[in-house]
Amino acid sequence: MKKRKILVTSALPYANGSIHLGHLVEYIQTDIWVRFQKMQEHEVHYVCADDTHGTPIMLRAEQEGITPKQLIERMWAEHKADFDGFQVGFDHYYTTDSSENQAYCEDIYRQLEAKGLIVKRSVEQFYDPVKEMFLPDRYIKGECPNCHASDQYGDSCEACGATYSPTDLINPYSAVSGAAPQRRASQHYFFKLSDMRCKVFLEKWVFESLPSLPGSTETRSRLQPEAANKMNEWLSSGLADWDISRDAPYFGFPIPGTARQKFFYVWLDAPVGYFGSFRNYFQMHRRTEADIDEFLRPGGDTEMIHFIGKDILYFHALFWPAMLEFSGYRTPTQVYAHGFLTVNGQKMSKSRGTFITADSYLKQGLNPEWLRYYYAAKLNDNMEDIDLNFEDFVLRVNSDLVGKYINIASRCSGFILRKFGGKLTDTISEGNRKWFNRFLFCQLNEEDTFLGRHVSIAQFYDSRQFSKAIKEIMLAADVANQYVDRMKPWVLAKNAEMDAELHEVCSLALNMFRILTVYLKPVLPKLAAEAEGFLRVPPLTWKDANSQNRLLPDGHQISDYQHLMGRLDQEHIEQLIEANKTSLQPAIQPGQAMQSAQSTGAAESPSSAPPFTKQVKREKTETSDGPPEITIDDFTRIDLRVARIIQAERVEGADKLLKLTLDVGSGQRTVFAGIKQAYDAERLKGRLTILVANLAPRKMKFGISQGMVLAAGDQDGGPYLLQPDTGAQPGMRVK
Ligand code: 2FM
Ligand code: ZN
Repeated sequence: MKKRKILVTSALPYANGSIHLGHLVEYIQTDIWVRFQKMQEHEVHYVCADDTHGTPIMLRAEQEGITPKQLIERMWAEHKADFDGFQVGFDHYYTTDSSENQAYCEDIYRQLEAKGLIVKRSVEQFYDPVKEMFLPDRYIKGECPNCHASDQYGDSCEACGATYSPTDLINPYSAVSGAAPQRRASQHYFFKLSDMRCKVFLEKWVFESLPSLPGSTETRSRLQPEAANKMNEWLSSGLADWDISRDAPYFGFPIPGTARQKFFYVWLDAPVGYFGSFRNYFQMHRRTEADIDEFLRPGGDTEMIHFIGKDILYFHALFWPAMLEFSGYRTPTQVYAHGFLTVNGQKMSKSRGTFITADSYLKQGLNPEWLRYYYAAKLNDNMEDIDLNFEDFVLRVNSDLVGKYINIASRCSGFILRKFGGKLTDTISEGNRKWFNRFLFCQLNEEDTFLGRHVSIAQFYDSRQFSKAIKEIMLAADVANQYVDRMKPWVLAKNAEMDAELHEVCSLALNMFRILTVYLKPVLPKLAAEAEGFLRVPPLTWKDANSQNRLLPDGHQISDYQHLMGRLDQEHIEQLIEANKTSLQPAIQPGQAMQSAQSTGAAESPSSAPPFTKQVKREKTETSDGPPEITIDDFTRIDLRVARIIQAERVEGADKLLKLTLDVGSGQRTVFAGIKQAYDAERLKGRLTILVANLAPRKMKFGISQGMVLAAGDQDGGPYLLQPDTGAQPGMRVK
């Protein structure tokens, strides 16, 4: 078979946030695919890098009192350790803040400029007069124009979910300095995506089918059907020019000829970082310019495949190919987008402890291969979200990996080691051959057409239908276990006359174990290496499942068996969740992109509040003047519950009160709350809040109040009604 030459990338994680389980979906998906292709002996180069530029990184470094370069160096080491811990085997992990990347960016820019695809235009933006810098919209906060909640971001309100533009905010302020922002105009550089040439090119690029792969007749498409549909929508609604510049001060690459006043927007230099990383890697390996060009210039028979989250399709399937096409570089062969991760069916949440960092997973002693296996069992080739359900996670790891796969080796190795000096036999009787065939082949139809599982599993891996690959592998493992159960080596071992049969059964079972190891190797590289050590075989490739003679030779010696994988307990999960609950985590840094690989794709989107002096002061006053310290027992005496406001009415004759009817899970309650001045009764309906459920009922002039809803406030403002995170249900205990 002809060797494929593939440059593979995963999206570059931002250098201002930790790697979490959401990110890992993509890196594990890509890594499994790459390992599979390498086992097929194709030439694959898997490169990645930290995405290091932009305003959030610049501001965070400033807040930490270090330079951006120091910050990105530290984050690079953290990210690299996380990826190593999860066995993500990049061939090269680099940084976008590199001379290689800068040279490519400048070249691409100059080529586009020469083709008349760069235009300059005046843009009005928010300007912080104290910090003397333009601010991305997400750094502007203020009062929500809809529900009047304070401290809301410039694009959407976290309290009521409304979306708007930062100019709609009431009393806007800069989240960096607290100053009132000004609107100021400045000249920006645009990539002319609206140019007819781009549209014509993109329409062709997206929808043309690719030549089939060696040894196959199937046509391939550049994008998944859902992604191609999205592209169709974008293309038919008309493309707007793309703003590629940001004003100084900015951490990034200066645009040539602008005297360091204008910088490339981080999203321009990020994908170019794939090239920068690749070049650095090839140069380190003393590869020639021609070798580099073979992958980065058009005309060769190499492939370039990007694995990304569905949120950044726009950048990878519109801007990036158009930029490359008109600057003389090759365009992506395929873009594979995946969905987001949910945990127990909900968005990852810091308060629930399900926003789990890679580092905490490893530090809590959980085996990274458990997660790799679980993700593989869930992943497929579409853009749907995948769910990490903890109960299912425990079940699958224990029943599939430990109970089915490892079990074969642990049940059969002892007999070989104790009774046959660790040597296998390749004798195989007619009856056992039938079992082996059932293990090796799957029946395609009732007319007894069989297909080698190594072929079907390979097709599933290649097309990223990992869940189907795992299903097929587990069917094979079931056959192996049925075989051992039926042959009962522990019974055979009691009768010396049955030694030959015992030897054959255990040898065949260990051969099945070896082939299962080949199938699982892309997912479980470390376990596979240990299994190779136990079986004393050289690194397994796909051929080892494929060759005609599928048995290890007569007399093949195995090593002592060491238990290969432990069980995953519910306790592991509980510890992990506990370790990730917000209260145990350090405060989130300003500008930290918490879900970069699975959120908006906007580089400059801080998802938590940057420091604001007024808030800090407020916290101090409250803690020093607050009530005396209490014990946890004091606290647990308060029964706090999530409640949904199903009705909110004004109370005749009361200036401050609203009468709330609450759904508390087990029934309804009426509560009178002094929030009328701050809230419009109509807008409260449907909202969740927190109720003190065991407060003694209070008889009021207007009726009996059965509890109290919680709100924050002081002399500067409020009341602000408390609201639990998405996913909380009426009746849930708050603790
Ligand atoms: O969304 C993100 O996390 C970006 N840092 C991904 C960049 S991918 C590529 F374009 F560099
Ligand atoms: Zn609002």
